[in-house]
Amino acid sequence: MAIEKENIALMFNDIAPTYDKLNHLLSLNVDKSWRRKAVRLMKKAVSCVAKPKILDVACGTADSTVQIARSLPKARIDAIDVSDGMLEVGKQKVERLKLAERISFYNSRAEHIVCQNDVYDAAMVAFGVRNFADREQGLKEMLRVLKPSGTLLVVELSEPQNRLIRWFYNLYFENMLPRIGKRVSGNAEAYRYLQQSVARFPMPKEFMAMLESCGYADVRHKALSFGLCRIYQAKKV
Ligand SMILES: C[S@@+](CC[C@H](N)C(=O)[O-])C[C@H]1O[C@@H](n2cnc3c(N)ncnc32)[C@H](O)[C@@H]1O
Repeated sequence: MAIEKENIALMFNDIAPTYDKLNHLLSLNVDKSWRRKAVRLMKKAVSCVAKPKILDVACGTADSTVQIARSLPKARIDAIDVSDGMLEVGKQKVERLKLAERISFYNSRAEHIVCQNDVYDAAMVAFGVRNFADREQGLKEMLRVLKPSGTLLVVELSEPQNRLIRWFYNLYFENMLPRIGKRVSGNAEAYRYLQQSVARFPMPKEFMAMLESCGYADVRHKALSFGLCRIYQAKKV
């Protein structure tokens, strides 16, 4: 594989200026509805908390963070990412949207979150867990910083199971996506990496078993858009 895990931050720094545009273009804006669905589940999970404390892990350009802030107007949100380039785009976005008062950004790895235990009512990682250098360590760190009864939501792309849809998916992901990615961002490799990382991501059963082995309870998942995206939900007991 051309892009090694340790170069993830550099890769995202490189594509940060065009990330939002490409994201919405490549998914035909469906990514927005996937995040919205996950945040709706989060809202339900923290409905008993007056002023929830939320952690957005691998927040990137803050699309996930903004969605959380809009749906939970009383929430305080900490958003972390390893790419300064992505964080900078995110910071400017939340300033523009006048949400900066409730959101704090930090450059931090999911595998080592600088924070005490039992702080957050909910944590979310949207399209980021696939990129973690040490996935299990990242999941365990999120468990550590969640309060007891806190909820984790993981939103991740996945390969569809249906053969026909998978045929179109492969055509799109293997051929068109790197070309469009190269044209808009100048970085074809990043979009080839996207396809490879989705292909290597564990199947739902396997990923749910990983969540359980990391210590999460009440693990479930939902397939969206013919299985192109999945939302995993789990609890800290
Ligand atoms: C595809 S973007 C997702 C951004 C955002 N959550 C969204 O919904 O659009 C993935 C992000 O994960 C970040 N990332 C990758 N590995 C990470 C890690 N180990 N810890 C924290 N962030 C990480 C990258 O820098 C990148 O910004």
